[in-house]
Amino acid sequence: MDRALPRLVVNFKNYSQASGQAGIDLMRIISEKNDGLGLEVGLCVNVLDMKDALREAKGVSVYAQHVDPIGYGSYTGKVNPEYLVEMGVAGSLINHSEDRVGLYTIVKEIESFREMGIISIVCVESLEEARVVADMKPDIIAYEPPELIGGDVSVATASPDLIEKIVREIECPVMVGAGIKTAEDVRVCLELGAYGVLVASGIVKSEEPGKVVSDFLEVIQKNV
Ligand code: G3P
Repeated sequence: MDRALPRLVVNFKNYSQASGQAGIDLMRIISEKNDGLGLEVGLCVNVLDMKDALREAKGVSVYAQHVDPIGYGSYTGKVNPEYLVEMGVAGSLINHSEDRVGLYTIVKEIESFREMGIISIVCVESLEEARVVADMKPDIIAYEPPELIGGDVSVATASPDLIEKIVREIECPVMVGAGIKTAEDVRVCLELGAYGVLVASGIVKSEEPGKVVSDFLEVIQKNV
């Protein structure tokens, strides 16, 4: 693995504020804020915008939000990770809470990502699930309590003890996400030992995404 692991991952989901031209504009804003800092930032763009995002990306890495456990062939409607790798994606989320895939697919995708040299970020909802996934040796485990996703109570506020426990017990880098809205949330997650943070609405739906990203990157820079 020669690719650096991201400290900040922004998931664009299917938000209108991050789809089409708006998504490319948001990517530019995030790139500009990271200019000069050089932190590893991953953007999980809408798959329909992948080509444009890869063409425009500077100083950030483009990730998928989901792929299917297939290669080239007769797989109608699936997202082929091999094709994305040829296009230049750095990796993908696997098993996001909004798109759960099951253990068989998780292990298959981790292995194929390893062979292709891209980064696997496997989302888990609990310590128990983190333990099972850790044995599959992903690049990153992302802990996100589903009930907090998209809300205003952050994982940092609601589950600090659990974050600490997962980070202590799980050997691979652990990212944390759900409800992260402020630089203080980011600081707490990193202080508890998280490798980085996974954020969606706190940036994508913000009135001032550039300011939020700047604040988050500043905290990350100070704490890693
Ligand atoms: O993938 C990140 C995401 O699920 C967290 O969403 O809106 O709570 O930051 P949000």
